[in-house]
Amino acid sequence: MMELITGFSKKSKKEKIKWMVATHLDNNSDIIKTLRQYWNDDKELQKLHDGFIENTISNYYLPFAIAPNFLINNKPYTIPMVIEESSVVAAASYSAKFWLEKGGFTSEVISTTKNGQVHINYYGNDTAIQSFFKEIKPKLFASISGIEANMKKRGGGLLDILLKNSTKALEGYYQLHCTFETNDAMGANFINTCLESIAKTFEFEAEKHASFTDNNSIPEVVISILSNYVPECLVKAQVQCPVEQLTSEGVDGKVFAKKFIRTIAIADTEIRRAVTHNKGIMNGIDAVVIATGNDFRSVEAGVHAYASKSGHYKSLTNASLEDGIFTYSIEIPIALGTVGGLTGLHPLAKLGLSILQNPSAKELMQIIAVAGLAQNFAALRALTTTGIQKGHMKMHLKNILTHLNATPSEIKKTITHFKENTVSHSDVVNFVNKLRN
Ligand code: MEV
Repeated sequence: MMELITGFSKKSKKEKIKWMVATHLDNNSDIIKTLRQYWNDDKELQKLHDGFIENTISNYYLPFAIAPNFLINNKPYTIPMVIEESSVVAAASYSAKFWLEKGGFTSEVISTTKNGQVHINYYGNDTAIQSFFKEIKPKLFASISGIEANMKKRGGGLLDILLKNSTKALEGYYQLHCTFETNDAMGANFINTCLESIAKTFEFEAEKHASFTDNNSIPEVVISILSNYVPECLVKAQVQCPVEQLTSEGVDGKVFAKKFIRTIAIADTEIRRAVTHNKGIMNGIDAVVIATGNDFRSVEAGVHAYASKSGHYKSLTNASLEDGIFTYSIEIPIALGTVGGLTGLHPLAKLGLSILQNPSAKELMQIIAVAGLAQNFAALRALTTTGIQKGHMKMHLKNILTHLNATPSEIKKTITHFKENTVSHSDVVNFVNKLRN
């Protein structure tokens, strides 16, 4: 049986590593060298990173890159991206340049409201809980007046609380649906603190209220938590051009547009294609979300749920050809912040925001929607013309050559050879070995 280790978080970093190497890694001392290699010499900086989570033993690097030439609402941007997948930044840069020559991207924030729920069990009479709620609603607002004071000064705070009867979907299930404006903050902590306070007040008032005479009918809070589904925190990005302008690299604009639109129609019909299609969009979105210190899991969860809003999981992008004009757009919910959380703590997240000229949360929503649209454009452009592997394998080839410590002359010869030949790991290794012999 596995032995339980107690008080682990209180051990020093060295002790934690020693335990892990002894119990999981055959006391291999090379592991310690690898972990140490990624420690930062700057002790303060290392301390900062150690403090983000518990039980840190090293740092995990991801490449931090920039994609230039984005024009969004007539403003130039260089977009920071943090991602491990080799072709994503190249794809973003390709789309940025392609659309820069056609007037760039437009983007607009449609709405910015976030939400959370106090989930309640209540098996009593509906009229009783509705009239109780009406009576105590001002007290629920009052319960968070201290918490929301600062947010209110900045024009945000709790907007409304609704009591929803969801008993048709689940027996005895009610909820307090709360809506918030959190301005430039992502606001997760703010919303959760407000919800917990509202829940406490709700329960306290319910317990002593005359409406709920017998114990069975007293409403009871199950959980209180923000929702990562934010369809009222919505942004749209778009590009448009006469169809002839899509002609490039020997591909006719009209033929390309039709194939492109068809590809989106397939994604709208077939979930297996839609998930991959949207994954490509998230390549762009997540990379910017991470580079700016935001929570990519919440964005991922919310965006995919939005893709299913019709009851059928679909493409997040749309395209049309009307009167010779090609229009291509994305509409996604994204809750994020440009102040608070990691944005102000992680030096590279701060840098990511500086590269973007310190945008407001609304502006960052627009930039991120564009990054998603650009990524999808590059993927569909490649898929509907040369296929995706050409670009992927070019980067893959470079990675293999780096791994083989290839010399500049070996790199040149190998790249030339594989322009005409299909890249595979073993073929590249064999080719380099032949050069070396
Ligand atoms: C790969 O990370 C993303 C793509 O599969 C997206 C797509 O198929 O649309 C290329």
